[in-house]
Amino acid sequence: MLLCSFVPRNSVLGLALLAGMAASSSGFAQAAPEKAAVRPWMNTSLSADERAGLVLKQLTIDEKIGLLHGTGMKGLGPLSPLAIHSNGGAGYVTGVPRLGIPDIQMSDAAYGVRASGENGRYSTALPSDLAGAASWDVDAAHEYGALIGRELRAQGYNMSLGGGVNLTREPRNGRTFEYSGEDPILAGTMVGHVIQGTQAQHVLGDIKHYALNDQESGRNAVNVKMDERSMRESDLLAFEIGIRVGEPSAVMCAYNRVKGDYSCENKHLLTDVLKKDWKFPGFVLSDWQATHSTVKASEAGLDHEEPGEIFYGPAFKKAVEAGQISTADLDDHVRRILRSMFASGLVDDPPQKSVPDVLGGLEVAQKIAEQSIVLLRNENSQLPLDASKLHTIAVIGLHADVGMISGGGSAQVDPPVGNAILPPGKGQTRWLEPMWFPTSPLKAIRAKVPHANVQYDAGTDLAKAAALAQGADVAIVFAYQWESEDMDLESLSLPEQQDDLIAKVAASNPHAVVVLETGSPVLMPWAGQVSGIVEAWYAGSRGAEALANLLFGDVNPSAKLPITFPLKDADLPHPNIVKPPVTSTTRSGDPDAWKKIAAGLPPFQISYDEDLKVGYKWYDAEKKPVLFPFGFGLSYTTYSYSHLKVESGSTLRVTFDVKNTGTRDGAEIAEVYAALPPSADEPPKRLVGFSKIPLAAGESKEVTVEVVPQYLSIYDVKGKTWQLVPGEYTFMVGGSSQDLPLHQSVTLN
Ligand code: BGC
Repeated sequence: MLLCSFVPRNSVLGLALLAGMAASSSGFAQAAPEKAAVRPWMNTSLSADERAGLVLKQLTIDEKIGLLHGTGMKGLGPLSPLAIHSNGGAGYVTGVPRLGIPDIQMSDAAYGVRASGENGRYSTALPSDLAGAASWDVDAAHEYGALIGRELRAQGYNMSLGGGVNLTREPRNGRTFEYSGEDPILAGTMVGHVIQGTQAQHVLGDIKHYALNDQESGRNAVNVKMDERSMRESDLLAFEIGIRVGEPSAVMCAYNRVKGDYSCENKHLLTDVLKKDWKFPGFVLSDWQATHSTVKASEAGLDHEEPGEIFYGPAFKKAVEAGQISTADLDDHVRRILRSMFASGLVDDPPQKSVPDVLGGLEVAQKIAEQSIVLLRNENSQLPLDASKLHTIAVIGLHADVGMISGGGSAQVDPPVGNAILPPGKGQTRWLEPMWFPTSPLKAIRAKVPHANVQYDAGTDLAKAAALAQGADVAIVFAYQWESEDMDLESLSLPEQQDDLIAKVAASNPHAVVVLETGSPVLMPWAGQVSGIVEAWYAGSRGAEALANLLFGDVNPSAKLPITFPLKDADLPHPNIVKPPVTSTTRSGDPDAWKKIAAGLPPFQISYDEDLKVGYKWYDAEKKPVLFPFGFGLSYTTYSYSHLKVESGSTLRVTFDVKNTGTRDGAEIAEVYAALPPSADEPPKRLVGFSKIPLAAGESKEVTVEVVPQYLSIYDVKGKTWQLVPGEYTFMVGGSSQDLPLHQSVTLN
């Protein structure tokens, strides 16, 4: 602790002493008028750019460089002594205390705030990001982000490292649960609203991993090849929309190379597309150890290195002094960071550590889970279960008595009391170790049917599980597929002998319901043998309670798949995941790993030559049948669609009626797709809009979806612009990408 008292905090070179520190970390309340006179940048009537410009003029070169890098991260490369001031998150940047510019305290926060366990704090785990996207509900996305923002602040952070939106080209990617699925318009819109919600709490938000970091295998080495048009209309479009909607403070560039250059020194991605075409005013920070150079990276548009200062510390200063990097470029990097700090409100309204609203957080987590769980199969209306008619229930599946599984890696949220499958106090979070949240399906089911005999079996002995199922009124099997950053799945098949278990249970009980806890789609060779299938994803802190509400009909399912469930791995655009010749991970435990990574690993290639055909666009174009299509999800009621009208004026409006034709209240996600004219040379159809509509039993509503012109356009590589191809457009409306009862064609010029 002695170190703490004597470490100057505002630059590597130690220009500010402790006197300045006292004022630095928590004392930035609203500027008093006299303060604004001394510090004109504290005048809140000025724009963020003006305020940043005023600060910039005051900064020494060392202070500027201090803002361009982090101070290291425990376990990942060299730590600066300044890291002692870190709040315990993944990144810590020293501010400029003498000018009232606060430190940046970054935390991973994909589905909740990370590392609360090791810091002795509490975080709520929301359902996975993919689950959130399954709600197709932008208000829920906003609420998702807002909860993260509030808990970041309560823990003393002022920057979120959430916002993952890599498009699912490779569903075996171990981070699929952290992203928002396979469609750029749905994914971009949902992540944009999450970011909006987070930043509304006056913290910096980011969007990541820019770009084409679509699998974990060899992520530091892989060179991704894709043609420009496909890139712009798919993976990059998700980012473009996310940035437009969410206005994130930062973009995190990815580990991989794109067409030869590392993402974090890729001029085309960072400057031409992001900063010029999309006019992104914020800053680009590197993924952790994804910076590989000083001059090249700066020229390409990288503004900030994380987690340390290998390239953006003393080496950067030297390059400026040697004239290899201009002062204008240095200032542009710094201005972008300062600008984001003012724009997000964190300078005027810094976080105050406090006790997070645990109960409020759990309520939000449950509500979002209830909107995210997808009902995939419901033969003979097996669900909802009628509690009054059930006497015996068999609950089967590993750990379904104590918890539900969560997604791992830097997204991992720590459960209170630790891993539910280990004794209290023994189950800390460990890298690449599955973490089960203490939300017990068995308990939640028992609470719904206190009079019934609810028995549990782990399912490890198939014959025993089948015997338990045989005598029960209903058998509910919990199956899981764990995934994490730093790994990919070999196959979309359920691991262990879970397929056999389900088949056995189904053979012994005609009322078998399968609940899936997965981060990606899974294969279901047994699908036709069970009467119910529910995709619960990684359901978060209150997953079991939400699930029980759905199973027993207190909540009517309303979510739909943001991702296709294929029939087999061989149907994917790349039947086998492309593996690097040499395996490498960022967290290999090798103390010199960072040096090797910084030096650059030998590249290997992935060509995404399926191009524009991502997800359902691939199956549509290849005419491959799927298990469950994109946009699909059942409800306990039914809906009908009628009266389609497409009006093309200055805005294109698609209007139709949706009616709840059943006897239960519900909410229907209406999806609008368009088939472009043949000369556009596009996959058969694309999602161009959607709306989630609450409908009471019997109620009918007229719905209008305004279609953003870009969503009907193609990217013209030569003209470097989006272009509407003149011709006939067919609009299709319905409740799933494969159930579109309404069609209308219009000619657009
Ligand atoms: C991940 C990022 C994360 C960072 C900091 C990296 O390994 O790719 O998503 O934000 O670590 O933990």
